[in-house]
Amino acid sequence: MEISNSVALVTGANRGIGREFVAELLNRGVAKIYVASRDTASLKDLLKDGDSRLVALPLDVTDPDQVAAAAKIAADVTLLINNAGYAAFQGAIAAPDTDDARREMEVNYFGTLSLTRAFAPVLAEAGGGALINMLSMLALVSLPMAATYSASKAASLSLTRSLRAELGAQGTQVVGVLAVQTETNMGAKLPEPRMTPQEVVADALDAIQAGTNDEIIAGNQTRAIHEAFVADPKGLQAKMSTRLPQRT
Ligand SMILES: NC(=O)c1ccc[n+]([C@@H]2O[C@H](COP(=O)([O-])OP(=O)(O)OC[C@H]3O[C@@H](n4cnc5c(N)ncnc54)[C@H](OP(=O)(O)O)[C@@H]3O)[C@@H](O)[C@H]2O)c1
Repeated sequence: MEISNSVALVTGANRGIGREFVAELLNRGVAKIYVASRDTASLKDLLKDGDSRLVALPLDVTDPDQVAAAAKIAADVTLLINNAGYAAFQGAIAAPDTDDARREMEVNYFGTLSLTRAFAPVLAEAGGGALINMLSMLALVSLPMAATYSASKAASLSLTRSLRAELGAQGTQVVGVLAVQTETNMGAKLPEPRMTPQEVVADALDAIQAGTNDEIIAGNQTRAIHEAFVADPKGLQAKMSTRLPQRT
């Protein structure tokens, strides 16, 4: 899909990788971006230059009313970017309860599902359009210190593959982005070295422009880990399995 003159919606646009999606979409000549955030006050810095292509949208991806309202307001979207994510970085057993595990599923899995369901007719109306789902290498290998986050991203990867098949009939391009630790608030809890959000976003948007309809491995650091995964999936999992959660 051509990005110039497209109309994008980015969830979690106020910071981290979402904010970089906004910057790079503007560089690539997007016509309009709905910059979606739970708290539109957090978009102040992004909106300060007064770029008329940016439209603030209040959107908690776990709130069905806000999701439905977003699909009505942003009825001209041609590129939906499911970027919003939550990671508690906790073990499956070491966590005090399952509250954060449920929140990870609500944001990362059900949020992606709800947004895509709400915008599928909008994308169809646009002749197909495109969808980017921000996944993680942890969709392929499980990190015990982020056990329930890994599970939520594995669920989202599975969902992304079915969405690609189901939305294929209406011509929607679906790109799932696999990435390792990246320099954001979320990534700061993961070991160095970290990738820049710019590397991740450039590869994701290049894939959209190239017409890729598949998962992509974003950034050199992810490509190195992915090569290790392809060569020896169980070996890489065994290595990751040594990264246990802190016991309290
Ligand atoms: N950083 C990494 O190492 C890394 C690696 C691979 C994949 N990813 C994925 O990349 C995506 C972006 O992550 P990031 O690193 O930029 O994380 P981040 O800096 O923690 O930002 C997360 C974003 O998601 C938003 N968000 C959280 N819950 C939400 C909800 N219920 N409704 C709407 N927005 C919500 C946050 O909004 P608030 O400001 O309102 O909290 C924030 O804008 C996520 O899907 C993440 O899983 C990250």
